[in-house]
Amino acid sequence: MSDFREQRWSLKGMTALVTGGTKGIGYAVVEELAAFGAIVHTCSRNETELNQRIQEWKSKGLQVSGSVCDLKIRAQREKLMETVSSQFDGKLNILINNAGTFIPKETTEFTEEDFSTVMTTNFESAYHLSQLAHPLLKSAGNGNIIFISSVAGVIAIPMCSIYASSKGAMNQLTKNLACEWAKDKIRVNTVAPWVIRTPLLDTVEVQFY
Ligand SMILES: NC(=O)c1ccc[n+]([C@@H]2O[C@H](COP(=O)([O-])OP(=O)(O)OC[C@H]3O[C@@H](n4cnc5c(N)ncnc54)[C@H](OP(=O)(O)O)[C@@H]3O)[C@@H](O)[C@H]2O)c1
Repeated sequence: MSDFREQRWSLKGMTALVTGGTKGIGYAVVEELAAFGAIVHTCSRNETELNQRIQEWKSKGLQVSGSVCDLKIRAQREKLMETVSSQFDGKLNILINNAGTFIPKETTEFTEEDFSTVMTTNFESAYHLSQLAHPLLKSAGNGNIIFISSVAGVIAIPMCSIYASSKGAMNQLTKNLACEWAKDKIRVNTVAPWVIRTPLLDTVEVQFY
């Protein structure tokens, strides 16, 4: 029975890219995939923290590598996918678009820069990475994309109209890509968490009605 379970749930031989794997939800996703046998690549902006995490995973016997990458910058996203492609021989089984940011303000207070930061980090980067990953996911023959969205993209929560819009766009993109890329054997899904205690919320007083 345990052999059957292990075979059923093993990700041995699978390759995965998880964005934003040094903290919070992404960190847990990296560990879970790697513990099931996947070879995982992750990224974040903080090189010291990324290297610390990679050492920790190595000491646990997990196969995880990483790139320093600011996902807001298009050229850095392209470089990230080149690294992934060369490391995984042009095949990617799993793309987890997890990295995200949150700026809490009233709509009347948001600046142009706030809008750009949140939409670029949360939505544009996930859209572009999915485009870049498409040939790799197709080559794998059983590709998977998971977007980490939010309940905020489904219902109205105060102080987060830009964040909510970025997640709402992600929810719709999931439906479009799932239909468009089914022919390429790429499954596309969204996970929409409610509040999870991570560093993202450390500086925010969360209020809900
Ligand atoms: N926590 C919640 O309650 C909650 C609820 C619903 C949805 N979510 C969603 O879940 C996802 C993960 O959230 P979390 O709470 O785990 O966040 P977190 O603890 O702040 O972790 C975010 C991760 O993304 C990385 N990251 C952020 N901006 C980046 C950028 N421009 N380029 C590259 N990496 C970047 C961070 O590393 P660096 O900062 O070093 O780059 C970190 O590794 C987000 O999409 C968030 O919207 C969270």
